Amino acid sequence: SCDDTAAAVLEAPRRVLSNEVSSQYELHRAFGGIVPEIASRAHAERVTLVVEKALSIAGVTLDDLDAVAVTHKPGLVGSLVVGVAAAKAIALARGIPLVGVDHIEAHVVAAMADAPDLEPPFVALVASGGHTSLYAVRSEGELACLGSTMDDAAGECFDKVAVLLGLEQPGGPAISRLAGVGDPEAVRFPRYRAKDGSLAFSFSGLKTAVLYFLKGPGGRRDAPDRAELGVSRADVAASFQRAVVDVLVDRSLEAAAREGAHDLVIGGGVAANQELRKTLARRAPPGLRVHFPPPSLCVDNGAMVALRGAQLLAQGRRDDLGLDVSPTGRA
Ligand code: KG4
Ligand code: ZN
Repeated sequence: SCDDTAAAVLEAPRRVLSNEVSSQYELHRAFGGIVPEIASRAHAERVTLVVEKALSIAGVTLDDLDAVAVTHKPGLVGSLVVGVAAAKAIALARGIPLVGVDHIEAHVVAAMADAPDLEPPFVALVASGGHTSLYAVRSEGELACLGSTMDDAAGECFDKVAVLLGLEQPGGPAISRLAGVGDPEAVRFPRYRAKDGSLAFSFSGLKTAVLYFLKGPGGRRDAPDRAELGVSRADVAASFQRAVVDVLVDRSLEAAAREGAHDLVIGGGVAANQELRKTLARRAPPGLRVHFPPPSLCVDNGAMVALRGAQLLAQGRRDDLGLDVSPTGRA
C-alpha cells in the first residue's frame, strides 16, 4: 500500500510459513519522502519475484493455495493497484477466492500470528509512519476504531522532528539513540488530549512546539547550540520522545480500561521504541497483558494481510474481480 512490496504464505488460522518484504527504502531516500510514481513502478517490477520467494520459502506452489488476500485500502493509489492486480491474476488463474483486506485492520490483528493464545476481545494500538489508531477487537468479525490521529502519525512526527534536529531518516531510531543520553524532564512539551474525552490523537502541536523551541521566537535561530537553547539536543530528543510515549501510553491504557480488555497489542513501526515498551511495561495495571509482536509483524508485511484475509474468509467474505482500491480507506 505504500513503499514495501510484501507477500506471505499463511496456514490458516495463524501459522506463518513465509513472510517476505522487499523494501524500497534506498529508492526514495534521496527525495526525503516516498515518491508515489517510483513506488508503483518498483512494486510492478518486484511483486512477482516477492510472491515467488514467499511461495518457495513456504515450500508450496500456487496450486497449493486455497485463497488469496490483498490489501486494497488505504494507501497510495498506484501501489494498491499493483497489489490488487497481482492478487486478481492469481485468483483468476487458479480459480481460488479473492478477499480484499483493510491495511489498518491487518496491523490490528497482526499480533495474533505470534501469540497462539491471543483471542478477542483485545485492544490494539497501531502506530507507524502512516497511521496512529486505537482499535477494539471485540470479535474477529467486529473491529471498532476507538480513535485515530487527526493530523500527523506518531512515526511521522518522529521523522519530522528528526529533520529539525538534523538527524538521519527514519527519525524514530535516530531520535531514540540520541534520547538515550538526554534528560526526558529537561523540556516540558505539550501532550494532546481531546477536550471531549475521545481517544483521538494529534501530534502536529507537539511538532510545532519542538520547532519553536529550537528556532526561537520568529524562527530566527538556524542551528541553535547548547548555549542558546539552555539544554542539549539530546535533552530535546529525550523530552520529545517522552511526550509522544506519554500520549500513546495514556490513550492505550484508557482504551483498555474502557473496553475492560485483558490484552493490549502494540503494532506498527513505532512499536520498536524501547521507551514505549518500558513505559507500558511499568504502567500497565495488573491483569492487563501487553503484547509486542516481533518487528517482522509490526512493520508493513504480508503475513498480517493473509491473517486478516483468513479471518474474513472464515466469516464468509469473498470479493470478485471487481474489487477496487480505496486510497482513503473510506470506500
Ligand atoms: O510501520 P513502519 O515500518 O512503516 C510505515 O509507516 O508504513 O513504520 C515506520 C515508522 C517511521 O516513522 C519510523 O520513524 C518509526 O516507524 N519508527 C520508530 C522507531 N523505529 C521506527 N519510531 C520511534 N522509535 C523507534 N525506535
Ligand atoms: Zn502500515
